Amino acid sequence: MAAELYIGLMSGTSVDGIDAGLYDFSENQAQVIDFYYQPYSPQIKQKIHALCNTHHTLSLSDYGKLDSLLGLLYAEACINLLQQSRINASEIKALGSHGQTVCHSPYSKPPFTLQIGDPSIISQRTGITTVADFRRKDIAAGGQGAPLVPAFHRALFHSPTENRVIVNIGGIANLTLLPKDIHQNILGFDTGPGNTLMDYWISEHKNVHYDKNGRWAATGKVRPDLLSALKNDDYFSAPPPKSTGPEYFSATWLNNKLAKLPTYKAEDIQRSLCQLTAETISAAIERFAPETDKVFICGGGIHNQTLLQELRQLLSVPTVSTETEGVHPDQVEAMAFAWLAKQTMQGLTANLPETTGAKEAVILGGIYQA
Ligand SMILES: Nc1ncnc2c1ncn2[C@@H]1O[C@H](COP(=O)(O)OP(=O)(O)O)[C@@H](O)[C@H]1O
Ligand SMILES: [Mg+2]
Repeated sequence: MAAELYIGLMSGTSVDGIDAGLYDFSENQAQVIDFYYQPYSPQIKQKIHALCNTHHTLSLSDYGKLDSLLGLLYAEACINLLQQSRINASEIKALGSHGQTVCHSPYSKPPFTLQIGDPSIISQRTGITTVADFRRKDIAAGGQGAPLVPAFHRALFHSPTENRVIVNIGGIANLTLLPKDIHQNILGFDTGPGNTLMDYWISEHKNVHYDKNGRWAATGKVRPDLLSALKNDDYFSAPPPKSTGPEYFSATWLNNKLAKLPTYKAEDIQRSLCQLTAETISAAIERFAPETDKVFICGGGIHNQTLLQELRQLLSVPTVSTETEGVHPDQVEAMAFAWLAKQTMQGLTANLPETTGAKEAVILGGIYQA
């Protein structure tokens, strides 16, 4: 059977870099062919953070330049991936680019979400038809524009014999509840912060981007009054559909909480933030999927051993990596956007209205012909 090759480009709310994956979606399969990771330089990170910061003073021209610059970087990551895999651009059906979210505002009036990284540049530079701007079509249909991965999770991870939950721990953590009965509704939503607050806190105190393997958090203690203050936010108790972003669970959000509490050791705060992520994920599973048989973890948070151990302790069911289903946990999101591009190219819808709150299923994204 002829291969049907698609590329997915993903850069999430952690603002760590670009995941570029090459996949074969020919009939009845979803096979990983190759993967390339291109970290953002400190300068690019700083520019993105400056734009995401709600108090920024950047001009429209700074915004336009960053949109082009990211388009160039996404094209470069894609070209590097093709070189590494020795596959020609002409063999690729299409690529799906998520773009970099600089603001996700599903509750404003009118709601909006903004992902940048000019897709015209990507298609022109790579010679590959590019599908991008996936989220805004769902918002236009009355949804939150997120999460968009549940349909892909269903296609890849559904099992007729066990109730599964897929947990993606990126900057924000999101989960998809996949009941074994395929006719039952699928729930999918953001549970709240994944790594974003831990990344912020360690970068303030240790001048590194993240807490490697959760080692620093492991040296601290959970502070119960701090943890309960952190958990005291309406977002956590709100029913789905719901989605959020680092502009909400931000440095300001954390510092406002800390200002009202006694001073703690920095590592105790890191440990408590880790606990917040673990407890909000496990509480969401207990509340909305008490019949779960198995939990599959993906996203960079899986490498945080303190977080993973805590999650395993809180969840009473087997908790494994998506690797057990053949997809490396760092690749699930890139694969999802390659799959979403395929859906769009084939004229198929890919949002699940029950997860985003949209009035109907729609064909996502815009197509930028090569
Ligand atoms: N070895 C590691 N130890 C602890 N945390 C890690 C490790 N590797 C990655 N991470 C975390 O994962 C994040 C990146 O995860 P990723 O899935 O790419 O998120 P996003 O989709 O938001 O970009 C990093 O910012 C960091 O917090
Ligand atoms: Mg990332």
